[in-house]
Amino acid sequence: MIDYQRILNSISQDALNLADRGKVASYIPQLAQIDSKKYGIALMDQDGALYLAADAEERFSIQSISKVFALTKAFQLLGDKIWSRVGVEPSGDPFNHLSLLELENGIPRNPLINAGAIVVCDMIISQFDNPKEEFINFVRELSNDHSIDYNKKVARSELQTGFKNFSAAYLIKSYGNLQNDVETVLDLYCHMCAIEMSCVQLVKAFYPFMNQGQCLKGTQHLNAKQVKRVNAIMLTCGFYDEAGEFAFEVGLPGKSGVGGGIVAVLPNKFSVATWSPGLNAKGNSKLGMLTLERLTTETRLSIF
Ligand code: DON
Repeated sequence: MIDYQRILNSISQDALNLADRGKVASYIPQLAQIDSKKYGIALMDQDGALYLAADAEERFSIQSISKVFALTKAFQLLGDKIWSRVGVEPSGDPFNHLSLLELENGIPRNPLINAGAIVVCDMIISQFDNPKEEFINFVRELSNDHSIDYNKKVARSELQTGFKNFSAAYLIKSYGNLQNDVETVLDLYCHMCAIEMSCVQLVKAFYPFMNQGQCLKGTQHLNAKQVKRVNAIMLTCGFYDEAGEFAFEVGLPGKSGVGGGIVAVLPNKFSVATWSPGLNAKGNSKLGMLTLERLTTETRLSIF
């Protein structure tokens, strides 16, 4: 039996002593105020046993991690139809790049870059009268935690400053790949990025991705084949132009957010989440990457 608690304690002790933590995201004004010294880690095994250390229960802005929830909801609602509007190839570009969109006629490379998530939000909006309410309820169901919510201030902050996301949405709209208004689509997009969750809540929410689609309560959210697809997309596209590096260093499907969170899964074994707000040059949490590299190296548990 692996002593996960001992490993998390030792990794978090070492991480807390590191001076170079990267830079907190400043392009979203509300995020710039976060204390760069925060650090949390949580792991849940397939039996539902939970291990945690440091600030694992403190909530933070999950940002792009929410793109996995949006993809899951759209996949659940529409099945394989979604792949006619969004691709499954890594972009090799930063998360907010626009160049490929123009080259590829408004079909985003994958659902985990901003442009792809914007199209996915459009799909969700077309299915509901109250998409924001439906979406947050879905995340609550997935995590079995009804206290999860949007931070409206962060959403507003991003709606006021997300010029690149507006540009992407208008470009997509110009190619006919958005059914709803740009404002309506970005309202859901910015809200879902502004969901606040802790590492503990994230490992619960990602439990279905390591458990063949079934959450802790036993609800089947996606079938096993769909979970395989979502995990494949996380592995190849979850870290933008650093997806190769994350596979190389860590070796797990996962997703990062500019709030400093990273969630990853080892199918049929565990889900793990880290939070450290300082980012590297590619927009992924610096200590989060180091931490997860150590976890998979020390436990010898990765998909490779
Ligand atoms: O749209 C944005 O730029 C942010 N709401 C999300 C970006 C993000 O988290 C990229 N991930 N590393």
